[in-house]
Amino acid sequence: MSILVTGGAGYIGSHTVVELLNIDENVIIVDNLINSQIETIDKIKEITGKDIKFYQVDILDRENLERVFEENTDIESVIHFAGLKAVGESVEKPLEYYKNNLIGTLTLLETMRKYNCKKIIFSSSATVYGEQATSQYVETMKRGETTNPYGTTKAMIEKMLEDIYYADNSWNISILRYFNPIGAHESGLIGEDPKGIPNNLMPFIMKVANKEIDHLNIFGKDYATKDGTAARDYIHVVDLAKGHLKALEKLNNEKSGLFIYNLGTGNPYTVQEIVDTFKKVNNIDVPYEYTERRAGDLTIMYADPTKAREELGWAAEKNIEDMCKDSWNFVKITKQK
Ligand code: NAD
Ligand code: UFG
Repeated sequence: MSILVTGGAGYIGSHTVVELLNIDENVIIVDNLINSQIETIDKIKEITGKDIKFYQVDILDRENLERVFEENTDIESVIHFAGLKAVGESVEKPLEYYKNNLIGTLTLLETMRKYNCKKIIFSSSATVYGEQATSQYVETMKRGETTNPYGTTKAMIEKMLEDIYYADNSWNISILRYFNPIGAHESGLIGEDPKGIPNNLMPFIMKVANKEIDHLNIFGKDYATKDGTAARDYIHVVDLAKGHLKALEKLNNEKSGLFIYNLGTGNPYTVQEIVDTFKKVNNIDVPYEYTERRAGDLTIMYADPTKAREELGWAAEKNIEDMCKDSWNFVKITKQK
């Protein structure tokens, strides 16, 4: 049996594929490489010593997506990472985001139904909660107001999956809401390397530490937190990847169902704590300045990870020092040869 991984050449997808190969699963990757590099496929093979099938296919391309299912009749489940994910870009290019994320997912789901494959894990985001009365987010909360087209695509896909399940409860669906993935594989061979100026905190810190950007702007010093900077639930990407294996195990043990899980550590860290830890564990400077708050940012957002622990037997194991060390190790291995 094989697992189809859409977006498997990307940041979270590649780490998940490594973990799947480590437990001897057969993996087929579909990725159009719009935000990733072909070299990642070789790096995955190098890390694991295992082979994978790779198709450079856009999930909107129904004909070629069907070909993948035709050529691999043993595809039993799908882990669906493929999507565009930059919040700021989604505000500027809403049509591109709605088209890629929504039509891409629709095409994938229709193709799965056609080939009678009804087991799927979907990469959602804590962003679907919007702003709630408390800072710790739990799955029993209703989805809230999204503040950008990217977040709206995640909320709409979640709703789409719910409707599909209610219409045909032979589907077996797991929706995973990620908090803030950072870090990289311990080999330093794969990690997050966004094109252009990064939006997210850790990729920005990595570029400042590597002297590609002269300083970090810390957005806001007047939040109601211990040091005035905003707090998030940062999770090591390898822990996140392992969460997918547990979610898959759960689906394999169920005949059908619709499950939603937060994947986070449950421990918020402020921007200041991340910067200070990164500097300390890597013994490197990260110049920074405090600037205005970034529009739309919440003060504190972190997961209640109880449900994933109780139902999946999953909990994050790596700490903030590991996350900062592994992020920098990826830069050292890939950019400072
Ligand atoms: P990424 O950009 O590194 O990976 C996504 C991959 O999907 C890329 O390799 C890209 O080339 C591919 N892709 C995009 N559109 C495609 C299409 N139409 N057809 C085929 N391939 C396509 O992003 P990531 O950080 O690994 O995120 C993976 C998933 O997790 C995304 O759906 C993202 O929205 C979601 N997510 C990410 C975060 C985060 O902070 N990184 C947080 C919450 C949710
Ligand atoms: N930050 C800075 N300077 C920067 C970048 C970020 O101070 O240059 C701060 C932000 O203000 C925020 C924190 O660092 O307080 C984390 O910001 P990120 O952009 O790394 O992450 P967000 O929590 O804003 O967003 C992430 C994902 C989104 C997802 C959201 C909610 O990037 O895709 O979590 O789950 F929607």
